[in-house]
This record gives sequence, structure tokens and C-alpha cells, in this order.
Amino acid sequence: MCGIIGYSGPLEAKKILLEGLSQLEYRGYDSAGIAYFDTASDIRLIKRTGKVSVLKEACAQEKTTSHCGIGHTRWATHGGVTDANAHPHRAGKVTLIHNGIIENYHSLTKEFSLEGKLISQTDSEVAAHVLNHFYSGDPGTAIKSLLERVEGTYGFCIMFDDRPGEIYGVRKVSPLVAAYTRSGALIASDLTALIPYTRKYFVVPEGCIVKLTGYKISLFDTGFSPVTPEITEVNWNMDSAMKNGFPHFMLKEIHEQPEALKNTILPRMSKGLPDFTDDAVPDSLFTDCRSIHMAACGTAMHAGMAARALMEPLLRIPVSVSIASEFRYEDPLIDEHTLAVIISQSGETIDTLAALRLAKSYGAKTLAIVNVKGSTIARESDFVLYTHAGPEIAVASTKAYSVQLAALYMIACRMAFVREKFTRHQASSFLTGLLDAIPAMEAMIRRKEEEKNLVTHLIQHRDAFFMGRGLDYAFSLEGALKLKEISYIHAEAYAAGELKHGTIALIAPEVPVIAIATQEHVFSKMISNVREVKARGAFVILLTKEHAQVDPGLADIHIRIPDIDDRFTVFPIAVILQLIAYYASIGKNLDVDQPRNLAKSVTVE
Ligand code: F6R
Repeated sequence: MCGIIGYSGPLEAKKILLEGLSQLEYRGYDSAGIAYFDTASDIRLIKRTGKVSVLKEACAQEKTTSHCGIGHTRWATHGGVTDANAHPHRAGKVTLIHNGIIENYHSLTKEFSLEGKLISQTDSEVAAHVLNHFYSGDPGTAIKSLLERVEGTYGFCIMFDDRPGEIYGVRKVSPLVAAYTRSGALIASDLTALIPYTRKYFVVPEGCIVKLTGYKISLFDTGFSPVTPEITEVNWNMDSAMKNGFPHFMLKEIHEQPEALKNTILPRMSKGLPDFTDDAVPDSLFTDCRSIHMAACGTAMHAGMAARALMEPLLRIPVSVSIASEFRYEDPLIDEHTLAVIISQSGETIDTLAALRLAKSYGAKTLAIVNVKGSTIARESDFVLYTHAGPEIAVASTKAYSVQLAALYMIACRMAFVREKFTRHQASSFLTGLLDAIPAMEAMIRRKEEEKNLVTHLIQHRDAFFMGRGLDYAFSLEGALKLKEISYIHAEAYAAGELKHGTIALIAPEVPVIAIATQEHVFSKMISNVREVKARGAFVILLTKEHAQVDPGLADIHIRIPDIDDRFTVFPIAVILQLIAYYASIGKNLDVDQPRNLAKSVTVE
């Protein structure tokens, strides 16, 4: 949360900062600001509530050139959405931007007698004052003193009035990546801001201070000894971070799913079986465990729920899924015989990271499924399987969900094989079934007009219900989340058999019910549940396989997916559910890619 960018180099800093903030806007978009050294080496500060476009307009009047500056796009935590609360914050000689939460800012305010001096309501401004208190010309010593006093999480980028051309960065939990490129030195909260300049970067290690100047980057620890950065390379390119002719990132990312699945599955196939040799994930990880415990948030957690529904009956061992923010404060029943699977697109979600650390502290072996290379969760986990979806920019997750599922399905298959629940033939036909889901997804993407038409009814209602049984129930959870977050329609997902234990009271005439019925073994039960809601006047949107037998008139709208193996219907179904949410958002004239109150990558609790 909150996007951070810093630049020092020969190019026009303002332009680089504003472009970087546009790339990072998905991390928070309630206000934005930049600060830079002008030609007289004075620091200029411009900040505005609203999106980066508002800041860009304000900066258009600024004629001074600059070669060093910092920029921030905010997702409010402490203090409302006001110009004063926007970053950067200034105190004396210090100008800084911050991502994270300073938990002891109340006590620091008292200790440093800041009452009456603060212009904003933010914890970040308190940090600026504390740093200024310690600053007497030596940035390293002052930053070290600040870090000794602050509690919480942070990614700071700092400039000092009397050190033109220099930017200092330091972090704890909150991400910061940096790179020295032909265009100068860059630091950012997120790789997407660096991609236009380089693919080689390093993650700023916790406990180190990074210093950027126009001609170099140096890294040192808090004892001021130099540290060699560990350079990582990413295979993303600029195209993957652009809309490329699509009206929204979300629609583009829905279209990218078949390709993302191929990139995630094909390099991990050998002799018709899943093979994780190149990921350095040993089979012993799968044979030695007695249970699996997954932890994740939001969409990633829903991927875990779907995988659980598949894995437990297949592997015949306990498989559970926890909401990471709950798991981290529990005393979970896990031990050294547990395989903890941690799922995260960004690899930075703070609750998921805490769940990983907790699982490790209980002795569990940890396997992370992560999209962003070098992210904290990827680095801290014992083993990692990267999903190769490329950058996901739309706040609502789409392609990350599909590739997380693909990775989990491959784990399930390999595990079933090495634990002798699958013969070689069964494992190989499972994998073929997974690959068959790709053209099925492509078919649904081609038929996207169907969802465009069906939302006309949906968007006239405040509530909608999703229901399914077994795997279909797990898919419903994600369908409801997608609809809620970008169309603001209240949506609930129900295991279809549970509806009549209370919720059916809400089914009034015309209420939209999206019923998913792709699982053969519970199909007739599911159809009975659809009849029950239809009998109460619901407007039924029914999703089944191509050749499912359904009474005419049962559904108001019936969408059929290709006849693929029941275990893999999630992939074409996910496309339909994502498109329903997408077109509902468009139909209501909402901001699809940046829905209200949300931000990508939740790095605060
Ligand atoms: C919903 C969505 C969120 C994320 C969740 C976890 O569309 O994107 O629910 O799935 O915040 O994020 P990661 O996967 O980055 O840990």
C-alpha cells in the first residue's frame, strides 16, 4: 500500500516521478505528492488529494528543472484524505515519504514535544520530526537514531535540505526495490516503476540504508559497513505493465490468463508429469508431511479454498485453509509434519507474511506460491514456486487467481503421484485435463459478449447471491468477492445446501442468483437448490457444462462452458465470474481498475 518512487540522475526528475506514480497508482490513490531539488537546490513540495492526474495538472505550472526527487501515492491509514496528510512531509531539514505504520507515534509526539507543531494527522510526519531532531549533517547517524525509536513497519525515502542530489531509503517489512540504470538511480516500492528503465534490481535489505546519487547507489548497514546488493532480474517487460489497447487493465489481465497458465504450467512438465526440479522443490517436501495448511488473503485465499476441495479427497490427509489475518493470531495446530503453503500474488501482504513467519516458528516446512520475484514472502519461505503471470495492475485480482490455482493443482498432482495416490497414468491424465482447461478459458474469453448482456439485470439490484456445491462453492466465493469489490453490489456466496438454513429468507422476486453447477456428482442436488430459489422468484443465472440437462425455464440466463473434466471447470468459470464483475462495474460507470477504498498489495494490518 502506498506507492513510493525516488530518482536521482541526469534526466528531468519531475517527469520520472510523475510517470512512476502513474505506474504505482494501483497501490493507493487518494492523494499524491512529489518533492524535488530545484535549480537553486531548494526543495519544492507539491501535493494534492485525488489521483495522480490531479497532481500532474498542478505540476504542469512548475517550470523549474530538477534531477533529484521523491514521490508518493497514498492509501490513507492515519488521518483523512487531505492535502496536508498527503506525502511528502517536511520537518526542518527533512523531507520524507513513508509506506507503513509507525505504531508508537503517539508516544513519540509526546517525547519530542511535537504537539502544536504537526501540520498533518499522520504518523509519517511525526517520523519526519524525530529524524530532523537527530539530524546534524550526518544522514546515516540520524536515520540510525530514528530507527532505534520507531516501532512498526516502514519504507522511507528521505531527502535532506543540505544534501542536494541525495536520497536515502530504509525499510522494515514494507517493500523497497532499487536499481542503478543508464538513466540514473531509482528506488521504488514496486518493480513496475522500475521496468521502464531496467529489469535488474535489488531488494533493499531490512536493516540497511541505501543512498542514491545521480551517479551511484550505495548500500550500508547501520554500523556503516558497505553491503553488496543482491541483484535480481525479472523477465517482465514494458508491455506487460501497459494497457496495450484494452480499455482497462482488468480486461487485459482477464485476456492474459491462458498465456499466464501456459507460462506457469509448461516449464514444469517433464515426461507428462509435474516436475519441480528447476524450482528446487524436492519430493521429500510432499512425502514427509502429514497435513497441509494454507494461509492467504482475499482472492489468494479463495484459490486455496478451491485447491483444498480438490486436494483433501485426493491426498487423504487433512488440508486446511486459513485467512492469514486470523491465522497469525491463533495458536494453530501445525508442527514439523505440516506443509504450510503460503499464497500471495504480491509476496508482500503483511498478514500473509506474518502467517508464513508463524508457520516457520512452529517448525512447519513452508512453500510459497508467489508472483513477484524477490518479494519478501518468496525470500523468507523455505521453498517457492513462482507463478508467471507478469505484473497484475488492476486492483481486482484475475490472472493471479488462475495461476495460483494452476500451481496448486500441479502440487496436488505431484503429491498424489509421489504418495502413490495416483499412478503415472492418472497423474499424466490429470495434467492433460489441466491443459485442456486453457482452450476452455479461451473459448469463454471469446464469448465475453454473453456476460456483457447479462449484467443489465444484475446492476439494477443492490444484492446478489452466488451458490454452488463442492468445488463450485469454492469458485462462488471468488465470484462474490469480484462483484463486490468493483461493482459495489452486495454479494454473498453460499454452499447451495446451506441456503435454506437462513439465507433463503433474502431471496425475493427478481433477486439475482448466480448458480454454478459444473460438478457431476452433486449436479442433481444443485439443480434442486436452483429450483428452490426459482420458486421464490429469483432471477437465475445458471452456469453449467455444455451438455448438462436442464429444464427449460429453470434459468433466466444459462451460460454453458465446454465439457471438460469437473476438476478443472474453475478456469472457464473464473473467466465468466470475472467478466460479470467487470461488465457490472462498467455498467454502473465505476472505476474498474481502482475501486474505492482499495489498493493493491496490502502492506498494513
Ligand atoms: C481481490 C484481491 C485481494 C488480494 C489480497 C491478497 O481482487 O486482489 O483480495 O487477493 O489482498 O493479495 P496478495 O495475493 O498480493 O497477497
